[in-house]
Amino acid sequence: MQKVMITGASGQLGLALYRLLKDNPGYRLLRTNAFANEDKTIQELDITEEAAVNEYVRLHKPDIIINCAAMTAVDLCESEQEEAYRSNALGPKYLALAAEQIGAKLIHVSTDYVYDGQGKEPYTEEAVPNPVSIYGKTKLAGDEFVRTGCKRYFILRTAWVYGEGKNFVKTMLRLAENNSKIKVVADQYGTPTSALELARVIVFLMGTESYGIYHATCEGSTSWYEFAKTIFEEAGKTVDLEAIPTSEYKTAAKRPMYSVLDNKALREGHGYVMKDWKEAFKEYMKEL
Ligand SMILES: NC(=O)c1ccc[n+]([C@@H]2O[C@H](COP(=O)([O-])OP(=O)(O)OC[C@H]3O[C@@H](n4cnc5c(N)ncnc54)[C@H](OP(=O)(O)O)[C@@H]3O)[C@@H](O)[C@H]2O)c1
Repeated sequence: MQKVMITGASGQLGLALYRLLKDNPGYRLLRTNAFANEDKTIQELDITEEAAVNEYVRLHKPDIIINCAAMTAVDLCESEQEEAYRSNALGPKYLALAAEQIGAKLIHVSTDYVYDGQGKEPYTEEAVPNPVSIYGKTKLAGDEFVRTGCKRYFILRTAWVYGEGKNFVKTMLRLAENNSKIKVVADQYGTPTSALELARVIVFLMGTESYGIYHATCEGSTSWYEFAKTIFEEAGKTVDLEAIPTSEYKTAAKRPMYSVLDNKALREGHGYVMKDWKEAFKEYMKEL
């Protein structure tokens, strides 16, 4: 039986991994989060506390560490830069160093926001990162710490994640409750990715020794506007949806305009193809 430590276990991805792995007799789960939960199935561990990370890892000796913890509030990262750096860069650094000490595998989750979004073709893993936001910059710093801090690492760059928790799908459905008209940005492109589909890739990769950087988004691409349209179609809601340009939707953080990722390493290295985004989204809506 392998011991799998999950950080950020209360978040979207952490919960999806729990769903996939909890009944698998091959794994014993060690779930942690900055804040513990009431029934104590999730233990308190703030990944920005180096001594606590070392102590936890030394004590429990996980075979695999999956880092799902991050400061994901992209706009807040602009005003809380130090906190963003601690959670998105230093936390992964401490986990990488601790993993290296005990020879554990580390699966670290990163983002499409490490790219500047000026491209016109899907980004492969060889593309040169050039983040345009604090979130992207701190996540890239985290990737670098992981790459240099331990040998047995997987970095999975994903995008537009939805699962249990706060996300675009939930926001759209909530807005539709009280608004007859909703405006959504139509000139930013990417790929909605279900947390469950991402969790499946993680479970697949952690059984291999094929370390390195992977892009891991659902197949296909769309705009936020088209995604919103699909959400309302699937939910059977009639909403007056207006497509607007990014220039009309001011946010603290700049977002990449085009951040479609090509899962080349998964496809060519393993013959692994993630679900098309619409198919994965239908699966999610069936369960919602
Ligand atoms: N969501 C997306 O659209 C998206 C896109 C691309 C990449 N990613 C990456 O995918 C990964 C998983 O994202 P997600 O959507 O599951 O995020 P999420 O739902 O925001 O979950 C993140 C979890 O990390 C916890 N956390 C934050 N700081 C922590 C710390 N210092 N120590 C321990 N736990 C901490 C949070 O706890 P609290 O809630 O208690 O603060 C939360 O439970 C992250 O690495 C993220 O950067 C996400």
